Order: sequence, then C-alpha cells, then structure tokens
Amino acid sequence: MNALAADWLPMANEAEIPVGKASLVRRQRQELLIFHTESGWTCYDNTCPHAGAPIFADHFDGETVTCMYHGLRFRASDGGCADCPGWDLEPYPVKVEEGKVWIGFPPAPTG
Ligand code: FES
Repeated sequence: MNALAADWLPMANEAEIPVGKASLVRRQRQELLIFHTESGWTCYDNTCPHAGAPIFADHFDGETVTCMYHGLRFRASDGGCADCPGWDLEPYPVKVEEGKVWIGFPPAPTG
C-alpha cells in the first residue's frame, strides 16, 4: 500500500503481542491485524480479499492466519495467500518504538 504513511499512531503495546501471536486493533471503523513473528512485525487490513470476510487473530498459527469463511490461509510475513497466489491482504507499515506498536496510515485527504 502506501509507502508515504504520514500518520503514525500507537495501536498496541509491544508487550501484549508476543512472538507467534496476532492482535486485532481498531481505528474508528477500520479493523487491522498486527502479527508478531520471529521475523518481526507486520500489519494488514482485517478484510479477506476473497469475499470480504473479517479474519480473526485467534486463527493465527505463528506463520499463517486462516480465514474461517472458506479456509484460505494468509502469510504473516508478506500478506500473500498460501492457497491462491495473487490474493493478498492489504499491508500497513509498522514500527515498534518506546514499547508501542505504531501503524502508519495514509495521509488524510485535504481540500
Ligand atoms: S472470505 Fe475469506 S476465504 Fe472466503
């Protein structure tokens, strides 16, 4: 998605998401999934690209998260679908600073 994220917001506490876990966070009406793996942190919109269903953090096995509607699996590492290449979760930039997990949101539209 957007390499020019302008609005970095603290969306979770680092200590609350250990390695191998995921967490669902909300910003207004938007839901995001944050993943913490051995390779680091990633974040995606919580909307399955197959049919738009929500995905749940509880269905993360440490490497992939499964959408329970039709069973497609998505990699935490890059958001790609392990079952149907080309269907990817929408990524958001992540950084961890001062004990917080920060998510970068696109600049708010102006004008
Ligand atoms: S809506 Fe997620 S697998 Fe179909």
